[in-house]
Amino acid sequence: MQPAPSFPKVLPQDMDSSETPSLPQKIPTHIAIIMDGNGRWALARGLPRLAGHRAGTENLRRIIEACIEFGIKYLTLYAFSTENWGRPAEEVQGLMRILEDVIDRELQQLHDQGVQLRHIGRLDGLKPILRQKVLQAVEYTKHNDRLTLNVAFNYGGRDEIVCAIKRIIEDGVPKEAITDELISRYLFTAGVPDPDLIIRTSGELRGSNFLIWQGAYSEWYFTPTYWPDFDKEELRKAIVEYSRRERRYGGVISSGKEATTDAG
Ligand code: IPE
Ligand code: IPE
Ligand code: MG
Repeated sequence: MQPAPSFPKVLPQDMDSSETPSLPQKIPTHIAIIMDGNGRWALARGLPRLAGHRAGTENLRRIIEACIEFGIKYLTLYAFSTENWGRPAEEVQGLMRILEDVIDRELQQLHDQGVQLRHIGRLDGLKPILRQKVLQAVEYTKHNDRLTLNVAFNYGGRDEIVCAIKRIIEDGVPKEAITDELISRYLFTAGVPDPDLIIRTSGELRGSNFLIWQGAYSEWYFTPTYWPDFDKEELRKAIVEYSRRERRYGGVISSGKEATTDAG
């Protein structure tokens, strides 16, 4: 017979309460979000898909602010995948324009809030002006350390690994030096801890080529809410759910503590 699973204790402060929402003690250091459902959000309102993307952009501010308030140190947002180039040209152009507008409009405030912007993915597919803006934004905010915001734009997990392998070969790294840790250092996310929690909005239950290496032991949280409607309260719920999970990393169930493995 299988032993009965033991679940981490749910403390009163972890419970859902619409009156006194509070955060549990165990919060993720790094949250990554697949911001999905903009198109369906627009469709449900009889609006063009791009209106959904604009609404999704409006939502960025409140989620970034909520992360700062909750004390999250790293936030990674999936904004445009390497596969999204396959969408109609008008939508692709619209998404490029939106990124440009967001940088123009939000950069100063993000900087004032202590947000360090990073880009993950490939810049070489973007128009030179947009590439330039992204690089300038990264440079401008590089000394901030309240929240590190990784924007995954023209990002694909497989593409990231292909790029890493090419650079490892170019650098002449000997076979014996290839380790998990070395590969992590060659990814776009070098220096960023792996995501503790990956959230996907809109009800889709797949990873869509997002952080496939880094997410090896992430906890996943799925919600049917479309991205433009995913608010601070929804984020809090995801964090509470995370706090109730027991991460085992292939080890055994421990009594109320993180699992232990020989690897540590
Ligand atoms: C997510 O919303 C944003 C991007 C992929 C750029 P979608 O555009 O995928 O919205 P749905 O999934 O069609 O509703
Ligand atoms: C994933 O969403 C990419 C982003 C949110 C940027 P998609 O809508 O592109 O993913 P699929 O096509 O449903 O897997
Ligand atoms: Mg989608």
